[in-house]
Amino acid sequence: MISLRQFYYDIFSNFYDFIIRLHSRDTAGSLRRFIVKKANLSKGDKALDLCTGTGSVAIELAKQVGERGLVIGLDFSRGMIEKAKEKAKNSNIDQLHFVQANASQLPFKECSFQGITCSHAFYELKGHEREKAINEVARVLMDDGRFCLMEHAKPRKQIPRLLFYIRILFLGAKDARKFLGEEESILEGCFKKVAGQVSPTGQSKLIYAEKGE
Ligand SMILES: C[S@@+](CC[C@H](N)C(=O)[O-])C[C@H]1O[C@@H](n2cnc3c(N)ncnc32)[C@H](O)[C@@H]1O
Repeated sequence: MISLRQFYYDIFSNFYDFIIRLHSRDTAGSLRRFIVKKANLSKGDKALDLCTGTGSVAIELAKQVGERGLVIGLDFSRGMIEKAKEKAKNSNIDQLHFVQANASQLPFKECSFQGITCSHAFYELKGHEREKAINEVARVLMDDGRFCLMEHAKPRKQIPRLLFYIRILFLGAKDARKFLGEEESILEGCFKKVAGQVSPTGQSKLIYAEKGE
């Protein structure tokens, strides 16, 4: 049986890209290119985009790794996966595949990917799911691979900030508020090298994590 959150995203998938376009005035495109660049991937590499939604980051990753590479977009919402598949088909990209699964239980072997990305979604996971997902990322990432996590910076203005937290509460991610300030120290529990920077748009932040030596 699907959860209420999956049901919410299934419905949301029908107008997700429209809302993003309306809201971001093409900052979304530059943010996607930014996270993909920071993933440091080469032609022929394998990459995983967690909580891929309608697959926008996964499509950029697939362009980056080229025809010899492989990209998997993973999401637990069937609706999102269907939209993502449609977009990939329209872009004529063969090296991109989508899997419906939970980020807290990845159906891949140890050390499968050179790069793992997750854009604007990790904070929405429920606390226990997020903890498991971090361990799963560390498990399926190659030893010399890189995990790139992009999150919203907390809105500065009062009303947007209030709406932001109402949405998070609705999604049941009660501790997201704490996570959004402490991503780096939390990731340090599983990764040796962790660093962060503000995105060029100033509205998001990118944290990258590596297993190190
Ligand atoms: C705000 S959207 C972000 C989508 C995409 N990464 C982007 O930047 O456009 C959050 C996505 O995370 C997915 N998601 C939420 N919790 C998940 C979980 N536990 N496992 C897998 N996907 C999940 C949702 O279905 C949704 O597609």
